[in-house]
Amino acid sequence: MKLLKVYSRASAPTKIILFGEHFVVYGKPAILAAIEKRIYSSINIRNDNSINLNINNIHEEIDIDNILLLKDKGFTNLAHPLFIVIYDTLMRFNARFGLNVKIDSDVPFGSGLGTSSAASASLITTIFNLFGMFDKEEIFSLTLNAEKLIHNNPSGADPAISISGGLIIFRKYDDNKMIIPLEYDKELEFMIVYSGEERITGKMVDNVRSIKDKNPQLFEIFANKSEEITQDAIQALKNKDYALVGKLMTKNHELLNRLGVSSQTLNRLVEHALNNGALGAKLTGAGGGGSIIVLFNADNRNRLLEAFKGNKIFVTKISNNGIKIE
Ligand code: PMV
Repeated sequence: MKLLKVYSRASAPTKIILFGEHFVVYGKPAILAAIEKRIYSSINIRNDNSINLNINNIHEEIDIDNILLLKDKGFTNLAHPLFIVIYDTLMRFNARFGLNVKIDSDVPFGSGLGTSSAASASLITTIFNLFGMFDKEEIFSLTLNAEKLIHNNPSGADPAISISGGLIIFRKYDDNKMIIPLEYDKELEFMIVYSGEERITGKMVDNVRSIKDKNPQLFEIFANKSEEITQDAIQALKNKDYALVGKLMTKNHELLNRLGVSSQTLNRLVEHALNNGALGAKLTGAGGGGSIIVLFNADNRNRLLEAFKGNKIFVTKISNNGIKIE
């Protein structure tokens, strides 16, 4: 494939899971929204064979021929799986040249907002762009491979929303996926509150697997409950019944808490949001830390901003932009 550019920049959105996290790994539906905070990848071609990667205060350089050794050594930082992503994407084009790569994020890594998927999706998109390619299906499958490197058993929901943007229902069927875009209210806002606790998605997903293996019947009951909440939420979102959407979010949080993926901090933050007029609140993503999302109506916006002024927060609308060339 012909190289068309020597410099490229692309971005992908981070995301919130409104409903259905964890159970989505086992074939239940989830609702995800892309948000206005993004991850940007910039690359330029070097005239040697080194990949120089700069992400989140990590600055490492590895010769392209040594990248695969990282797999044997084990990844010890956030940058390592991304070196493999770069390698695999270059190999897709039978290309072998050095790159300077810089990845910048609007949100902290590990905050439960799909940063790993957004970083991979933006990186893969920017390399595709060097060759004048923008094939969303292929970028999805490479991003999913990247997620598999980072945590063993991803549902594919995060790559799907990074690529499509907007608001979607996602469901995994064995090796297939169903993605249904949902209409959404352009004015709808969510407050995101960081817990300050970092966690590793892969570990949380593994914890849930062992819970499932220990008590499959109970897990089945939980998974069916998650599906029921998600189906009710789809209807409530279609009806713009945000009081009900909020109640369902809180119910979803309680379910995830009973599953064991919440934390004291997350529960305290959800409680605090509800005590200050939120329509609903829940952890988002893998849990165990990360962030909570809060739904509110205009009347309670200021009260909630005031209530969380000691925390790291932001308010976001849903973003229609998936992966994008900058
Ligand atoms: O915490 P995040 O943003 O990595 O989201 C993980 C979502 C899970 O449902 C827990 C895992 C998955 O692959 O869907």
